[in-house]
Amino acid sequence: MAIIENRKIQLYRDDAISFLKKLPDGSIDIIISDPAYSGMNQRLKIGSGKIVGKYTKGENNGRWFMEFGDSEENYEQFLAECYRVLRSNRHIYLMFDSYSLITLAPVVRRVFEIKNLICWDKVRIGLGYYFRRRHEFVIMASKGKRAISLRGIPDVWRINRVNSYRYPTQKPTEVFQLMLKASAERGFMVCDPFFGSGSSAIAAIKENCRFVGSDISETAIKFATERVNQFLKYGVDVFQKDSLLGDDEMLRKIFREGLV
Ligand SMILES: C[S@@+](CC[C@H](N)C(=O)[O-])C[C@H]1O[C@@H](n2cnc3c(N)ncnc32)[C@H](O)[C@@H]1O
Repeated sequence: MAIIENRKIQLYRDDAISFLKKLPDGSIDIIISDPAYSGMNQRLKIGSGKIVGKYTKGENNGRWFMEFGDSEENYEQFLAECYRVLRSNRHIYLMFDSYSLITLAPVVRRVFEIKNLICWDKVRIGLGYYFRRRHEFVIMASKGKRAISLRGIPDVWRINRVNSYRYPTQKPTEVFQLMLKASAERGFMVCDPFFGSGSSAIAAIKENCRFVGSDISETAIKFATERVNQFLKYGVDVFQKDSLLGDDEMLRKIFREGLV
């Protein structure tokens, strides 16, 4: 386990499925995660197909990080563990690129009750061969029944992408905070089995929750530990200095004034 000065935050270096297997049944109040799908690299043949990271020599065979083997079988096993560790009447949020969503959404449906397909609008366009990508999807699903705490929130979230990232595919903390604002309560145990740079852990701290998570990469552990420790010590997120909220007035109001 990484050395974090606050026992409410636990970061493990482990494979997602192996990590989940070590957690007791019903010990988690909410899962918020952004897995490293391999679908995009396998199915999208553009140029060299090098999508994830910088491909310099080093850890993970020259890639910034490992992709999660997202065969339907593997993903079903991952979801079965998510289901087991999640308490009843709780929510799970899973992020997807378009390619992985097409293949894996039916698998999510076999395990959880899907409630929403949310579109994260990154405001500015990114890479893409045909239409340039400006979004990712989030499946929001439940184990049992649970309402959300927010009213009148659209299922399109305008939140700027992280441009000057310290970790590839680093997500804005606001994306994870919004999930927690809708589905968590103070003291909830938040779980992210693919935490990367630790954006979900920072979101958990900001929303007064506890956090337990894993990542297979040594770099992720190093970065996330440094980030969380700095945040706990100085209240500064060294990986995301400014708010990335877009111009959606309703979302701005929630972050300014709390629940609506
Ligand atoms: C899309 S990134 C997560 C980025 C993160 N949400 C952030 O904001 O920084 C996916 C992460 O999954 C990790 N990963 C890949 N395969 C894994 C596995 N089998 N188990 C756990 N983590 C894995 C990668 O190291 C990477 O950090």
